[in-house]
Amino acid sequence: MFGHPINHSKSPVIHRQFAAQLSEQLQYDAILAPLDGFADSWQQFVAAGGKGGNVTVPFKQQAYQLAEQLSERAKQAGAVNTLYFNSAGQLCGDNTDGIGLVADLQRLGVNLQGATVLLLGAGGACRGAIGPLLDAGVATLVLANRTVSKAEAIAINFDHRVSACGYGDIPSQPYPLVINATSSGLSGERPDISAGHLQHCQLAYDMLYGAKPTPFLHWAQQQGVAQQADGLGMLVAQAAEAFYLWRGKRPDVTPVLALLQQQLQ
Ligand code: ATR
Repeated sequence: MFGHPINHSKSPVIHRQFAAQLSEQLQYDAILAPLDGFADSWQQFVAAGGKGGNVTVPFKQQAYQLAEQLSERAKQAGAVNTLYFNSAGQLCGDNTDGIGLVADLQRLGVNLQGATVLLLGAGGACRGAIGPLLDAGVATLVLANRTVSKAEAIAINFDHRVSACGYGDIPSQPYPLVINATSSGLSGERPDISAGHLQHCQLAYDMLYGAKPTPFLHWAQQQGVAQQADGLGMLVAQAAEAFYLWRGKRPDVTPVLALLQQQLQ
């Protein structure tokens, strides 16, 4: 796993757990790449025998540039989080973040078929999520962002199911699922939307996670939303999809998620 910073990365623990579960031999470490030196770091890793890896902030766009083959979902996301070599020796870039989100929502019992979703935020986290949500059956996706032009620039890449707006003009309709894909929680804040949009919400989901509920999830709970979930499940699920790309085996996310939740306490 390549990132900057890497000190809080849970990916090594997750992948070692997956490998143990499936009796696979795997060495998985976190590598601190220099901010301007991701490609060099990757080449060194390959020269030393590296077979594949994950890429996290801030290198997902650089990995996208480096890959010789891109999956459809990587193209849609404009970012790569998983690298591997195909049988022809070409470097392939994929993005498992969105499918990880979908898998986690399904684990939580959400039926995405025909669903109406309110997605907050228009940064990298949201871009990778939209295609997989639509592929999973979402019928209406309202993309709301503090800076409306960023939401519009993303929505234009999708069909009529996706619309963009600012926080002040979110259409009034029931949203059973509201997803926070902003980084507002990192600064102790939440997206400034009206509480009315949570009135019909059954699950409030935040892509961030931590020892305590994020400000958005805390607020959703105060508003009476029945179920809240943070992004730890998405983290484990995207890792499971990456593991599958490398090894062709699907790990069970449940015990690994339980372990991480325990470690966060
Ligand atoms: P990344 O690509 O890593 O997600 P980003 O492009 O900076 O990072 O996007 C961060 C997202 O969080 C954006 O949608 C940002 O809103 P703006 O586009 O209006 O800046 C959103 N965000 C960050 N802090 C926020 C806050 N306090 N309230 C609402 N939205 C916030």
